[in-house]
Amino acid sequence: MKPSRIILGITGATGMLYVPPLLDLLAGADVEVDAVISDCGRQVLKIEQDLLPEELTGVTRWFDAADFTAPAASGSSCYDAMVILPCTTGTMGAIAGGFSGNLIHRAADVSLKERRPLILAVRETPLNRTHLVNMLALLDAGAVICPPMPSFYLKPKDLDGMARQFAGRICDQIGLHIADLPRWQGVEDAE
Ligand SMILES: Cc1cc2nc3c(=O)[nH]c(=O)nc-3n(C[C@H](O)[C@H](O)[C@H](O)COP(=O)(O)O)c2cc1C
Repeated sequence: MKPSRIILGITGATGMLYVPPLLDLLAGADVEVDAVISDCGRQVLKIEQDLLPEELTGVTRWFDAADFTAPAASGSSCYDAMVILPCTTGTMGAIAGGFSGNLIHRAADVSLKERRPLILAVRETPLNRTHLVNMLALLDAGAVICPPMPSFYLKPKDLDGMARQFAGRICDQIGLHIADLPRWQGVEDAE
C-alpha cells in the first residue's frame, strides 16, 4: 500500500546528499513527511550540504528531537513507515537496545512495537562486531537495514544521480515505487 504519511529521522552520519532527493521523491508522490533531526545530524547537514534543516524542502512538520510529546512518540499516531537517513551506529545501537533517549529513538521503538516498516540507512565503515550484532538484532525485530550503497550497474552520471537512485531504493522499501527511476532491465543495459 502506498504510504501517505511517514516520519523521517536524520542523524549525524555522512550521507546528507541522500536527504534532498528522498524528500523530493516523497513530495512528488504527495507523501506527508514529519521530520526529526539530531544535534549531530544538524551539524553534518551544515558541513556536507551547507544547509539548515529548515532549508530542506518537502518536510511537512519538524519536531524537536527532545519533544516526547510529538505524535511520533506514541503508537496511536498513524505513520505508515519510518525512515532514518542517514542512520548513525549510535542511533542504531540505541534502537537495538530499546533506549529511547530522543524522539528519533522513541519513534523507531514505536515503529517496531507497532510492526510498522522501519528503514535504517546505517552508515559506517568498517563495521565492528557491535554494529553487526545490532544490525542482526534489529533485523530480527522487524527493521530493514538498508545501508547507503550505490548500484554502479545503473551507471549514475553524477553524485545527484547516485543519490536519487538510492533514495528510490528507500522509497521501494516503504512501498512507494517511483516509475521514472533507473532500474535494471537486463544485460542489454550492461553494454
Ligand atoms: C562529519 C561527521 C561525519 C560522521 N559520520 C558518521 C558516520 O558515517 N557514521 C556514524 O555512525 N557516525 C558518524 N559520525 C559521528 C556521529 O555524528 C556521532 O557518533 C553522534 O554522537 C551520533 O549522534 P546521533 O545518532 O544522535 O546523530 C560523524 C560525525 C561527523 C562530525
